[in-house]
Formats: sequence, C-alpha cells, structure tokens
Amino acid sequence: MIIITEINDLKKIYKRRVPKMFYDYAETGSWTGQTFIENSSDFKKIRLRQRVAVDIENKTTESTMIGRKVRMPVALAPVGLTGMQHANGEILAAKAAETFGVPYTLSTMSVCSIEDVAQNTETPFWFQLYVMRDEDFIKNLISRAKAAECEALLLTLDLQILGQRHKDLKNGLSTPPKLTLPVLVDLLTKWRWGIKMLKTNRRSFGNIVGHAKNVNDVSSLQDWTAKQFDPRLNWETVKKYRKQWDGKFVLKGILDADDARKALDVGADAIIVSNHGGRQLDGALSSIRSLPQIIDAVGNKIEVHIDGGIRSGQDVLKALALGAVGTYIGRAYTYGLGALGQQGVESALEIIHKELETTMALCGEKSVTNLTKNNLLIPKDFFNNYV
Ligand SMILES: Cc1cc2nc3c(=O)[nH]c(=O)nc-3n(C[C@H](O)[C@H](O)[C@H](O)COP(=O)(O)O)c2cc1C
Repeated sequence: MIIITEINDLKKIYKRRVPKMFYDYAETGSWTGQTFIENSSDFKKIRLRQRVAVDIENKTTESTMIGRKVRMPVALAPVGLTGMQHANGEILAAKAAETFGVPYTLSTMSVCSIEDVAQNTETPFWFQLYVMRDEDFIKNLISRAKAAECEALLLTLDLQILGQRHKDLKNGLSTPPKLTLPVLVDLLTKWRWGIKMLKTNRRSFGNIVGHAKNVNDVSSLQDWTAKQFDPRLNWETVKKYRKQWDGKFVLKGILDADDARKALDVGADAIIVSNHGGRQLDGALSSIRSLPQIIDAVGNKIEVHIDGGIRSGQDVLKALALGAVGTYIGRAYTYGLGALGQQGVESALEIIHKELETTMALCGEKSVTNLTKNNLLIPKDFFNNYV
C-alpha cells in the first residue's frame, strides 16, 4: 500500500491501474520528448529565497483567474480522452474541481459530452475549443457550450497539425481500445479499469459522435479527426470566434512574445503560455523559461496564465512569482484520476495546495497575490541564454 503524500505516489498507482495505451498517451511528449522533460526540469533550476521571522498567520492561497474566485490559482487543463483514463473521467474531474474550488476545463476531445458534464455539476466549467474545418460543427459546439452555461472559452492555437508521439503510433491508440492480443493481455492486469468501463456507456468522443456530419460510429471518427484540425487557422479566424462568444475568452498555446502582442488585438481576457505539455513542437522552450519575455511584453495589458510541467505547489509558486496570474495542471490531475477517480483528483489538488501554502509561508509571504521575483533565486543565464 502506498501512502499518498506527493503527486508521484498518484502516478505510481495510475501506472498500475490504467491500460498502457492510455498511460503512454498521457506520459509522453512529441518526438524526443525534450520539451516535455524540460517543462518540469526547468522548474527545478529556479530556487527559493528562505525568509524568517515574518508573521505568517492568516496566510491565504485564494486569488482570482479571469474574474473567477479560486481557492488557489491552479485550474484543471483540458485533457483529451480523460474518460479513457477512468470511466466517466471528465465528470469525476469536474466534480473534484468543484469540491476543491478551482475551475475545470473540458476538452473538445472529451469522452463525456458538454451536456453530460453540465448535468452532473453545479459550478460553471470552462470549455476548450479546437478549430476544425467543419464550421457548422464549431458553431454548434459554441452554442452547446453557451447553453451549458460554460463560463469561459479557451481557444487552443498550437494544434493546427498534430505533433508526432511515437508511443501512440506504436500502441495503435484508439478510443475505445481495439482488442488486439497485447491489449487483451494488458487489460487482464487492469481489471478495475475494465469493470468500471463496462458499467458506463461513455466510451467514445461525446462532443463529436452524433453531432458532426458523417460521424456516427467510431471507425469513421478516427479518419474525421485526422482530417479535421484546420491548418488555415490564423488571427482573423481567432477574431471571428471571439465575436461568437460573449463570455470570457482565453487563448491557449502562446510561447512567443510576438504572438502574445498579436493576441492583444483579439480582445481576449487572458493568454496561456503553453507548449501543449511538450506534445507539439519538440525543441520549443519550456513554458517557465518562456514566461518572463511574455510578461515583459504584455503582462500589464492582459492576464497571463501558464501550464506545462507543473507537478507541485512549489512549481505553482515559481510561476506566480514570475508574474503568472494563474496556472493549470494537466498530467498531475490525470495521474490522480487514473489512480483513484474523483478522490484522486481531489488528492492531487490537496497535495499541490499544501505544498503551495507551506512554501509560501517559508518564503515569508502570506498571500499568493504578493509573490514576486524577489521570492526566487534564478540562475543568471536562465532566461537569456538563447538568442
Ligand atoms: C493526455 C493529454 C491530453 C491533452 N489534450 C488536450 C486537449 O484536448 N486540448 C488542449 O488544448 N490541450 C490538451 N492537452 C494539453 C493540456 O491542456 C496542457 O497544456 C498540458 O497538459 C500542460 O502540461 P502538464 O501536463 O505538464 O501539466 C493535453 C495534455 C495531455 C497530457
């Protein structure tokens, strides 16, 4: 029995319980995995300034993200196929976020549909949109998100074309999995997962099947998604979708100061500094290294959020101290979900919260909103050694 005290404990249980195909899908980056690895390892290079004899009673991690009050500025990032990591995964993750007091973001590529998540939760969630060629389908998705009272639309900009992830090709990733011999052998040891999956009818892409033209079954869906991501996406398209959404609008996947400046013209409420968790352009800089140049360029004009590599409350603190107003976790909560369902996601959030609160206190700060670069010790060449 593992006593759960850190995110890595959840990851160990997750690895034992979830089919290899879906574990590999989450725990991978594109090509060599350099950006995926550095997203996390770069956080470790930044050190913390210990301060003493500061009154730290009544400390708080509360803050806001695009106007929403949060128990800590850590939202759940959109993660496709969450419902394959655990039966009804999106609903369980959304409930965990609701219980804990942070926003949940539902992916376009989710298993549970927008309506499903809305019916099973009370707090408005956020919806992530991929731009696809089928404009009617996108319009309809936006209307469905409005009808479900989603509070924010996050438009993902870094996936006009899919980065290659070797493991997915080698494993023949599919939803639900095709029952080949290696998959069947693997499933024998993942019986908990299998029993729960048999008890739910949510086993396909809930936002797409039955809503997109000519997609009624799963086999045609594989072809459809491969062809659907729209390579023509440009800033005019972004402006067009901004106009169709009257709630909060967030641009996800910005890694360059020039793009951050362009994002200002769109009228977005926030941008997310992100490289899709190292799953798209391998060799891109880690999110944390990219953050300061973007804060310098637009930090006083728009709310800047960040994701990528966050596995602890200390990582969250470092991102906030460098100027991010909010952060997101993707894999850190997916580990919890695959390990223990809703309780596992709550556990991931509690772990990160405790680490954030304790670290903040030992740095001599009482509120996450007061954190600055002053709380950090940053190697001299950390940000400026690339030209
Ligand atoms: C398994 C997996 C699936 C993902 N699916 C989506 C998605 O459907 N839409 C999206 O915008 N980002 C997606 N992402 C990227 C996340 O939203 C987020 O940017 C990333 O997970 C952050 O890095 P982290 O996992 O190290 O926290 C996915 C990430 C993972 C790990």
